[in-house]
Amino acid sequence: MKIGIHYKDNSFSERWVEYCVENKIPWKKVDCYRNDILKQLSDCDALMWHIHQNNPKEILFARQLIYSLMTSGKKVFPDFKTVWHFDDKVGQKYLLEAIGAPIPDTWIFYSKSEALSWAEQTSFPKVFKLRGGGGSQNVRLVQSRLEAKRLIRKAFKGGFLPYYAIGNIKERWRVYKMGKTGIIDLIVGLARFVIPPAFARIRGREKGYVYFQELIPGNSYDIRIVVIRDKAFAIKRMVRKNDFRASGSGLILYEKDNFDIDTVKLAFELAEKIDGQSVALDFVYSGNKTYVLELSFGFIKEVYDPCTGYWDRNLTWHPGQFNPYGWMIDNLIKSSNNKG
Ligand SMILES: Nc1ncnc2c1ncn2[C@@H]1O[C@H](COP(=O)(O)OP(=O)(O)O)[C@@H](O)[C@H]1O
Ligand SMILES: [Mg+2]
Repeated sequence: MKIGIHYKDNSFSERWVEYCVENKIPWKKVDCYRNDILKQLSDCDALMWHIHQNNPKEILFARQLIYSLMTSGKKVFPDFKTVWHFDDKVGQKYLLEAIGAPIPDTWIFYSKSEALSWAEQTSFPKVFKLRGGGGSQNVRLVQSRLEAKRLIRKAFKGGFLPYYAIGNIKERWRVYKMGKTGIIDLIVGLARFVIPPAFARIRGREKGYVYFQELIPGNSYDIRIVVIRDKAFAIKRMVRKNDFRASGSGLILYEKDNFDIDTVKLAFELAEKIDGQSVALDFVYSGNKTYVLELSFGFIKEVYDPCTGYWDRNLTWHPGQFNPYGWMIDNLIKSSNNKG
């Protein structure tokens, strides 16, 4: 089996290449952005491509290329079941509900009048989300009926840019104060009030739907569990100060005793139903109830490097370093061998 790897910075690809080199797995670098990508892949059995939600090119064609390759019989990472719901909390609501996952009550409306009459009789606070975006950027608390109605009217009129400049500059300031970024990052944040990032310009405005979710109150953290078929690892993310949002906070704990084994078991069960090659699930809690918020096949690899071990499918803990990027390759090769 020969694997084509779309190589780019800040992605899984550098780890994939290292693993192929170390294990003498045939591979070659390919460039999915070029018109001749199918020709480039003609001597390959598989494509691995760590697509990103904020890449303006990949938004335009990544899924179409991936599904075409699948149709032609090539193996791909990510495959259809792994990626169709990626960066799409609308899709994820239906998927999670369909598989009986414990998702907080979630309302998506495609009509202004329906949304407004719901807002009239529901209680607050609620959580408002756009379908795309990560790191809590497009997730907001709605404290009042008035605020909800304002968001609903906007959703059915001009819509929302998928890049929230005010939230973003606040976040840049928080990270700057933590000493984790420089002044340039703040300047870029300001400039983006005038010129939004390329992905936001390409994606266009989010409109014609509005998404609200029940707030699961009192969580000082969320738990993210990444399942790569029969192995899983986890991080605990503390919420930002005076905030309910954990993802993207950069305040992360890794020790095993931070994780509840029942949540690990639930993550394995959900990932099996979703049938994804890599499934990162976010969890919050209320009393003895566990809720799943969303899923994503992709993650920032550096954030997970300090993980202190992983669980296998029997929930046995394996302490020490591990290489989930190698697991992705091994699983792809295995799936290719299984095709009969
Ligand atoms: N319904 C909810 N109840 C409580 N906390 C929530 C809820 N939805 C989101 N959060 C918090 O907000 C963060 C971001 O929400 P999430 O839906 O995971 O979006 P993102 O894609 O930005 O990570 C989560 O990490 C969690 O801490
Ligand atoms: Mg999240």
